[in-house]
Amino acid sequence: MIKRGVLGVPVVGVARSGWNIERLRERIRDSLEQSDDGHDPAAFAELMRLLRYVDGDYREPATFAALRSTLGDTAHPLHYLAIPPSLFASVTENLRKSGCAEGARVVVEKPFGRDLASARELNVALHRTFPEPDIYRIDHYLGKESVQNLLFFRFANSFLEPIWNRNYVDSIQITMAETFGVEGRGRFYEEVGVIRDVVQNHLLEVVANLAMEPPVDASADALLDEKVKVFKAIRTLGDGHVVRGQYRGYRNEPGVASGSLVETYVALRLDLASWRWAGVPFYLRAGKRLAATTTEVFARLKGPPQHVFGAATVGPPNYLRFRLGPDRVAIALGALAKKPGVEMTGRELELYVCNSGEDEMSPYERLIDAALHGDTALFAREDGVLERWRIVDPILSAGSAPELYEPGAWGPAQNERDIENGGGWHVPSSAEQC
Ligand code: BG6
Repeated sequence: MIKRGVLGVPVVGVARSGWNIERLRERIRDSLEQSDDGHDPAAFAELMRLLRYVDGDYREPATFAALRSTLGDTAHPLHYLAIPPSLFASVTENLRKSGCAEGARVVVEKPFGRDLASARELNVALHRTFPEPDIYRIDHYLGKESVQNLLFFRFANSFLEPIWNRNYVDSIQITMAETFGVEGRGRFYEEVGVIRDVVQNHLLEVVANLAMEPPVDASADALLDEKVKVFKAIRTLGDGHVVRGQYRGYRNEPGVASGSLVETYVALRLDLASWRWAGVPFYLRAGKRLAATTTEVFARLKGPPQHVFGAATVGPPNYLRFRLGPDRVAIALGALAKKPGVEMTGRELELYVCNSGEDEMSPYERLIDAALHGDTALFAREDGVLERWRIVDPILSAGSAPELYEPGAWGPAQNERDIENGGGWHVPSSAEQC
């Protein structure tokens, strides 16, 4: 942000580490030197000029008194709570009591609660200090170029809208696959599992961008109102809608219980009770240690009503594919075209456009910048968060034991059976290049 010239305010670190500002400076220097972006001495010097540090326990009023005096006459501090969720309530209370919350905004890291009941409690606790418009529930997926592009592509063009509904769309699939495992986050993952980690937040937000009605304008409330309508239309899930998996070897990861039943893979079907989407299943799957690392939307279109050139020319259905990452954003259209020659026979082709390597802002850059400017459009609102928990709440605690799958597979075998009605999962390719 400093390199782009959009950060000019003091940055105050607060921690109970026993460190001082020199130690923090060293830590930042090491981190930047190891980062892919390379070390920019001018930006580093500017960050060092802006950096402050307060050392202290989050439960001690003295820590907040020190923070208050460090804030000086700052009118709109932005408090970023990258702390364990169990501390949110007491930290916000201390911010209020110390006067640090005056004119302030607060960014809250995910997960926002563990289920519907705890998310409600958390909202109540935060609202004692911060009114809803000053709370920024962060979800880095909302800061992704590719996720923003879904909205832009839908509503800045006119050709998609006539077919983007139950009359032409047969089903929509979203795959969020990762080849890696829990990567040293075993203890965290045991508390969370894939549904809380990425489905309840990231993937449901993608569903909202795909399924929402056009907002009346680009204001935060207009966008968030339309998203909430999508969440309200999604039927609450039951265990029959879900396939759970766990990769073989997960139980040997550090911090994971030897008999753990936590799922590292899930596939589920969402049904939307809306005029536009009634009868169009949305299939979601997400998992660790799968065959590829990719996030992709695949919208299968219905076939033509008549096979003018004979049954032999019938190909796979048309589709639209949005690759959301990593490394590139792509849009593809699957179609049949005539094979050169005398016969009227077809061949499958894919029209593919993609961008990669452009100077892309990281999601966190975009979101912190937005929060500093009081723009809530890219953050989750209270009603939306509660609806998203309502959708998954019944499948969080109850449910079948996960089926084991081999690392490198596309999840457990049961998955294929249960998704059969949708015409099968599209298998994202890891080979495609821009
Ligand atoms: C995080 C999850 O929110 O998102 C991780 O906690 C996951 O488990 C990550 O790997 C994926 O984000 P991205 O941006 O790399 O797709």
